Order: sequence, then structure tokens, then C-alpha cells
Amino acid sequence: MYDLIAKKRDGGELSREEIAFWLGGCLDGSIPDYQTAAMLMAIYFRGMTEGETFLLTEEIVKSGEQLDLSALPGVKADKHSTGGVGDKTTLIAMPLAAAEGLTILKMSGRSLGKTGGTADKLESVAGFRLTVPEDELFRQAAEIGLALISQSRNLTPADKRLYALRDMTATVDSLPLIAASVMSKKLAAGAEVIVLDVKFGSGAFMPDAESAVRLAELMVKIGTNYGRRVSAFITSMEAPLGAAVGNALEVWEAAEVLRHGGAVDLLLLSQALAAEQLYQGGLADSRKLAFGRVHTALSDGRGWQRLLQLLQAQGGDTSALESGDFLCAPCVVSVLAPQSGFVRGINASQVATLVQHLGAGRMKLEDEIDHRVGVWLDKKPGDTVQAGDRLAQVYAADEEHADVAVRDLLTAYDIADVPCELPSLIYGLVDDGGFHAWNDIADNFVAEV
Ligand code: URA
Repeated sequence: MYDLIAKKRDGGELSREEIAFWLGGCLDGSIPDYQTAAMLMAIYFRGMTEGETFLLTEEIVKSGEQLDLSALPGVKADKHSTGGVGDKTTLIAMPLAAAEGLTILKMSGRSLGKTGGTADKLESVAGFRLTVPEDELFRQAAEIGLALISQSRNLTPADKRLYALRDMTATVDSLPLIAASVMSKKLAAGAEVIVLDVKFGSGAFMPDAESAVRLAELMVKIGTNYGRRVSAFITSMEAPLGAAVGNALEVWEAAEVLRHGGAVDLLLLSQALAAEQLYQGGLADSRKLAFGRVHTALSDGRGWQRLLQLLQAQGGDTSALESGDFLCAPCVVSVLAPQSGFVRGINASQVATLVQHLGAGRMKLEDEIDHRVGVWLDKKPGDTVQAGDRLAQVYAADEEHADVAVRDLLTAYDIADVPCELPSLIYGLVDDGGFHAWNDIADNFVAEV
């Protein structure tokens, strides 16, 4: 291991045997953590070639079980977001894609992020089970095209070990390490089609669009090299996505979008993600046709029905979601605009932190989260406001938490005197043909009326 660390430190390229030796030793304890940490730091500074990154990804996949979805009918699809604030697109895109014929068996972990993951969000529906016996799970996915469970199998154990060490050694932000980590999990989960949403901005891993494009290009190449159909949207996470941030609030917003439509940014991205899955899965001949079909599944209510079926199939009581009696935080406080003007931005990172302090996110994996709390952003970037208008609502466990959140939320809003141009939410798309700027492809993601 000493020689391998020295090789990488000096800019050498690791072979498959060397990577396999390292990961094997890291998992069975024969290589101490301090040597793995040194290797991670060497990779952080020296990078990896594309070939090395493919090998690392493959060896991480091979370190554990791999799901075999071949017994399921249809094209098996998956989606993954690199993590954002208020990102409930999975809850909207999944039912729409399933309603249009894709089969989706999705693994979703509990989140360690500032706000919950999809699994945490769905647990705000009373009775919803994230663990389902395997035969039942496959039957459900075959019948309704949709199942969502927490990860119970031993998939990619090498990623878990490496990630924990990266987290403690300031080596998370390395392009090859992120790409191998994300893609190994997606590849082990078995879907043939993988659509990614790579975020950039204040609420995301990647600071700017250019680095997000580089990460997306690498991940698409890894997946394509592995024989899967992969593409990636590049999207801004400067402001939270949609109106809701917080677990029950986000499920409520997803339900509202599927029933009646909703915030334009959320609606566009959710439909685009579902349409891209259909297109990559060969169920539509063009992106435009795929988007049209997804839009129809939204407008005629099939997407909403499919979400209800998913929740009910896994034990969820959907009556409160259907009757509108779903949100039950004890203390709801309005946040009023201190001045008139134009909402230029809402800092996603600040919103995530204040929502975590309200109790919606975890610091440690064993922490309990409060599903009831969060914020609802009535005014979004691009809106004009008059002094005293309601900007947002805070949903809190008590007044004390609410007061702090109201104060923090006011500092997250950037209200300008004059209107200014705002960049579009979607920056572009990477597929096996390379990067496409949003302006060049946006026409495909508009429903014909
Ligand atoms: N998400 C992952 O799963 N892995 C990373 O390295 C970064 C984000």
C-alpha cells in the first residue's frame, strides 16, 4: 500500500489490480485507515484519468451485492440528484415516468443532509413502510411500475467506507471520487436508464455550472462505458426548488403539483426528468414526444393516481393527503416583506441551515427528524413584492424555533429595488453526444397546447 500511495502521490496511474488490492484491504481491515486517507488525499491533488475512474467505479460496484432487475417487465429506470434544497422532483417525476410505462425500483437512503432525503420525506405519510419483503417489492414494481425502499442490501460497501473517510479528511470535493461514488451506487442498483440532476450553486456540492458540467460528463461516460443509458441535467441550486423545504411540506407540494400544477421551476424540471427517462429508455422517439406524454400523464391525473398507488402499496394512509389535512406543525408563522421590490434571490444554503435547525434534517444518522417542520416560500425569485406582503410561512414545533427561523429567513431573501434578469433553472444537458446548452434544447421541453 505504501508503494501505491507513493505512485499516486507522484502522479502515476493505478491499475485495476492495484485499485482492487486497495479496496479489498480497506474493507477487510488489512490496510489501515490512515493509508486509505493518504491515498484519498493523493487522489484529491493528483486526480485520476478517466480510465482509472472507470476502474475505481467498477471495483466499488464489485465490492458488494448488485441488484438484478431482469425479472421485472419493461425498461427499468432510475434518477439521481446530487442533492439540493427543496428538491422533491423524485416524488413527481417517478409517478409520471411509471404512468408512461417505465419500471422504477428506487433505493433511497435516509439523508444526512440539512434537509431530509426522499425516504425521509415519504415517512411523513402515516404508515408508509420503507422496508418491504423482496418478493412483495418485485410484485409491486411489476404491478404498478413503482417501488421505493431504503437500502437494505449490502450494495457498494467500499463506497460507504471511502465516503466516511473522505468526510473526515476534507477529500469529498474531488471530481473522480464523487463520480465513482455516485455512479457505483446507481450501477449496483441495476437500472438500465439513469437520469442525473447535477446541481450547482450555493445549495449544492458544485460551486459553479462549469464544474457541474465536468462532473456530469464524467458520470455519463462512466455509465455509458458500463452499458447503461445515462444523461444528466445541469441545474441551478442558488435558490430552493419550488416552494416547500421540509419533509411533510415537500410531500404536500409534490402532491399539489401532480394534482393542480405548481411552481414553474419545479414543474419544468420534474417533467423534464421524467421525459428524459422515457426518451433514454426508448419509449419515445424524440425528447419532444417524451415531454408531451409526460405532460399528458400530469394533466389527466395519472401521475397523481400513481403516487397514491405507491404510497398505499407500501402501507401509507393517504387520506390526509387527499383531504388536504396533511400539514400539522403546531406553530405556523408568516414572514412579511420588510420593503417593496423585486425578489432577486433566496439563498438556498441559508434556507437549508434554518430548516435543519427547525428539526427537519439530521446531524447524525441516528437523530430523529421532525417531519412536520419547514418553510413554504410564497414569493420566489422573479416575483415583485409590496412591503407587508407575505414572503413565506415558517412551520415550527414551537414559537421559539419559529422566531429564529423567521429572522434567518428574512436574511436569506435578497429583495432588490429594480427588476433584473434571472438565469434559467436548467443550464444544460449532458448525454452521450456531449453537452447541450439549455437554449439549444429548451424547445423540446415545452408541451404543445
Ligand atoms: N454523493 C455521493 O453519493 N457521493 C459523493 O461523493 C458526493 C455526493
